[in-house]
Amino acid sequence: MIKSDNKIIIAIDGYSSSGKSTLAKEIAKLLDYKYIDSGAMYRAVTLFALKNTIINQKNHEVDEKKLQNLIDQIHINFKYNPEKKNQETYLNNENVESEIRNMKVSDNVSFISKIGFVRKKMVSFQQEMGNEKGIVMDGRDIGTVVFPNAELKVFMNAKAEVRAERRYQELKGNNVDVSYDEILQNVKKRDHIDETRDESPLKKAHDSVELDNSNMNRQEQLDWIIGLVKERIN
Ligand code: DC
Repeated sequence: MIKSDNKIIIAIDGYSSSGKSTLAKEIAKLLDYKYIDSGAMYRAVTLFALKNTIINQKNHEVDEKKLQNLIDQIHINFKYNPEKKNQETYLNNENVESEIRNMKVSDNVSFISKIGFVRKKMVSFQQEMGNEKGIVMDGRDIGTVVFPNAELKVFMNAKAEVRAERRYQELKGNNVDVSYDEILQNVKKRDHIDETRDESPLKKAHDSVELDNSNMNRQEQLDWIIGLVKERIN
């Protein structure tokens, strides 16, 4: 454990499946900080939209009016599962942690996360969680929009093929029936939508530190971020 009374905010942004959450969780644990997966929130809203036929699964068209009318009925929170040693996502008091990771949600989430009023609600919720500092949050706009004053901002990337392979192994480990090609297409499509959307597109904050981890293992990445954290808390 790294001890310091000087609590900071760590923002980790980057491309999908670039290893943000693995690194964020590990550094949060070492610092005894709260870890928040902001992507899980957009996934939970997407699950809500799928369940309430707000999004057309074929052409991904969103009934924005209906979503706007129902958005205040969406309550998301996180609870720590001591058995799995993991934060789990709850949507209206239901544990949706595994459901939000399925391909149906992955295929639709970009169409929900590009909607302005959805982002506004998620961002204010995320900012509330960072009130007391001592937080690591990962996502796409954490260093640019959610916490522009974060003491440490990291921007992660890796080659699309490397990211797809990691995701493939992860889903295969969870017995999800999906092909590598399907995942590679999904990764590339999400990169494109995330980078080109009008609302808070994925981009590197001018003051963030870039990490391309295509050829790095977990320990090397952790050592790298520990060095940066120490510079900021001492
Ligand atoms: O990190 P992830 O792949 O679980 O995120 C799911 C989707 O949510 C991703 O396609 C982009 C979107 N997202 C976002 O727009 N802003 C964030 N802060 C986090 C995720």
